[in-house]
Amino acid sequence: MPSRNPRALPPDLDPKAVPDHVAIVMDGNGRWAGAKGLPRNKGHEAGEAALFDTVEGGLDAGLSWLTVYAFSTENWRRPAAEVRFLMNFNESLLVRRSHELHEREVRIRFIGRRDRIPGHVRRRIEEAEALTAGDTRMTLAVALDYGGRDELARAVQSLAAQIREGRGPRRIDERAIARHLYAADMPDVDLLIRTSNEFRISNFLLWQIAYAELHFTPVPEPTREPTRAAPRPAGTGFPGGGA
Ligand code: FPP
Repeated sequence: MPSRNPRALPPDLDPKAVPDHVAIVMDGNGRWAGAKGLPRNKGHEAGEAALFDTVEGGLDAGLSWLTVYAFSTENWRRPAAEVRFLMNFNESLLVRRSHELHEREVRIRFIGRRDRIPGHVRRRIEEAEALTAGDTRMTLAVALDYGGRDELARAVQSLAAQIREGRGPRRIDERAIARHLYAADMPDVDLLIRTSNEFRISNFLLWQIAYAELHFTPVPEPTREPTRAAPRPAGTGFPGGGA
């Protein structure tokens, strides 16, 4: 298991029954709001509360990594007003929540393209990453302007550039590619969750989910009621390292 921090795991939990890295496609904010007659923005705000409940749950369970999909490379196609809202929302969330994450010893990392993110949001991202860089209890990775295929194409491009310049590895193998992903220290995903009745991967962490268990729930992201995966048969666990 790559990066479990033993400090994080409550003593009464069997480490094998707890995933190390959980990734979540947080879906259904807009539909949740629509069903209540609220504007979509309210759904995103409620999604933030649910996300931070999940961070607390992750800390209780002793996760090492929690990775969430905040904005995909395809999300730029949404109406301009919603894209603007989401970018400003991410910025204000960082301003409001970074210190809380730091107090909880959670390191925040962003994965995805940075060149299309508005400068004022990028600066908050850099500040939040710097503030929490030394926090070791859990890593919250936020995928923003992220696409799995884009990540792989960029990894291969950067590896090829290194090789051209004579600085590359002698072999192009899995390990060499993994070293060029957005977060080279990110362990494989053990459990991928998608909310709100969608049964797709949507270009999320394509490399890292190779061995992940998948859990799809009809519950929309903002719903605070806890959801449970089917009970795990005794003696089975998350293998870590791929199986
Ligand atoms: C999906 O709802 C959710 C999003 C597009 C974004 C959620 C983002 C957050 C909660 C903020 C995370 C940011 C940080 C910095 C931690 P949807 O609009 O796709 O809902 P729908 O499918 O019902 O339309």
